[in-house]
Amino acid sequence: MGTLIQNGTVVNADGIQKADLLIEKGKISDIQSRLDPASHEVVDAEGLLVLPGGIDAHTHMDMPFGGTVSADDFLTGTRAAAIGGTTTIIDFAIQARGTRMRDALDIWRAKAAGKACIDYGLHMIVTDLGSDNGKQGMNDMDDMVREGVTSFKLFMAYPNVLMVDDGTIFKALRQTAKNGALICMHAENGSAIDVIVQQALAEGKTAPIYHALTRPTKAEAEAVHRSIALAEMAGVPVYIVHLSSEDALNQVREARDRGLPAFAETCPQYLLLSLEEHMPGESFEEAKYVFTPPLREKKNQPALWNGLVHDHLQIVSTDHCPFCFADQKQLGKDDFTKIPNGGPGVENRLQLLYHFGVNAGKIGLERFVEITSTAPARIFGMYPKKGVLAKGSDADVVLWDPEAEHLISATTHNMRCDFSMFEGWKVKGNARKVFSRGELVVDNGRYLGSAGRGEYVRREARGGAWR
Ligand code: URP
Ligand code: ZN
Ligand code: ZN
Ligand code: ZN
Repeated sequence: MGTLIQNGTVVNADGIQKADLLIEKGKISDIQSRLDPASHEVVDAEGLLVLPGGIDAHTHMDMPFGGTVSADDFLTGTRAAAIGGTTTIIDFAIQARGTRMRDALDIWRAKAAGKACIDYGLHMIVTDLGSDNGKQGMNDMDDMVREGVTSFKLFMAYPNVLMVDDGTIFKALRQTAKNGALICMHAENGSAIDVIVQQALAEGKTAPIYHALTRPTKAEAEAVHRSIALAEMAGVPVYIVHLSSEDALNQVREARDRGLPAFAETCPQYLLLSLEEHMPGESFEEAKYVFTPPLREKKNQPALWNGLVHDHLQIVSTDHCPFCFADQKQLGKDDFTKIPNGGPGVENRLQLLYHFGVNAGKIGLERFVEITSTAPARIFGMYPKKGVLAKGSDADVVLWDPEAEHLISATTHNMRCDFSMFEGWKVKGNARKVFSRGELVVDNGRYLGSAGRGEYVRREARGGAWR
């Protein structure tokens, strides 16, 4: 007895077909133009798109930052993700300076245990390669790869907190030539930015807008360039997270045109929100839009969309990192540097990309699936378990109603955050039913699964496959 999804339009990154899809024992067991419904539970998907579950490769649940903790934990955040059609996230464990990566992995696995509603993988944020000229840290990286943590994020920003020097970045990159992992870069020139920030504060510029105005796009482009140059020297791929500007994108495009394995993601906030529209003045309300890299001028948006169309950008993730306005964002009331960085987004990624990408004619259905599911699975070592509707893959399946209208609002969203970055926006296209490993976990916006049902995904190290 399986679940037969009948009469739907099955969309994969490499093609669309009208077909029936059979789920048995948590896996997709068959896809055919017609399958015999006898002895199966039938779900009618007439008029619906059948999509591989979304994969959000960049989230921060329960993350300590700036004296507070991101408002969604692994329960509320992954439940909201599921409701929005995302069936896998990759979150970030953070190695605290002076501790081992295994400590961080244990802490983050414990945060997710009993809470995660969908499957999750973990990247490791490396803050310190430790003693012995980095040998300990590089061994720790190999250890993490064996645990399925096959990507590492390093920061070129946030001096004295998360930022590491170029030597550390280069060592980590070189280690991935041996262990096949992928280095993810937060690419902003933190030292230069810090000079601009200190000057702004000295001039009494404390409003949220100065968070954006002190982080020029050139600081992002320079760091993207440096990341790629270091990766080229090490002979390995590199992945730029949350790329926000045309200047930065040009660096990735130039590298890819030279045949280098440089990859990058952008996020809905950079594709859809702008400095002019969302941070027009000096109001503290604008703290809702304080994240890093910051909002950019609207002229960057067409370049980012174009980057998605032409595969200069491979993935759209959310960088979901919510902090409530009423209490948490207030920490920076008198000083923009104390505003916790980040915004809520994990629930709305597919709705926004579908409405402003597919409905607007910017990207086709297959590309939509590719940038929201297939590419994250491939690049981060989960393919074909995840990211595709195929025989033998996990039955992470979204029945997507292309006609469903949805009003985005903090009053109705499921993320634990008291505002939405897209408040009052109307979108067309929404998840109707969501299956995670064959279990119906969302029906018409209601979460039906249990807390803690989500499994840790041990990812493969595929870095080398890109060369
Ligand atoms: O503002 C952001 N992006 N907060 C999360 C931390 C990070 O750099 O991704
Ligand atoms: Zn970052
Ligand atoms: Zn992030
Ligand atoms: Zn709160």
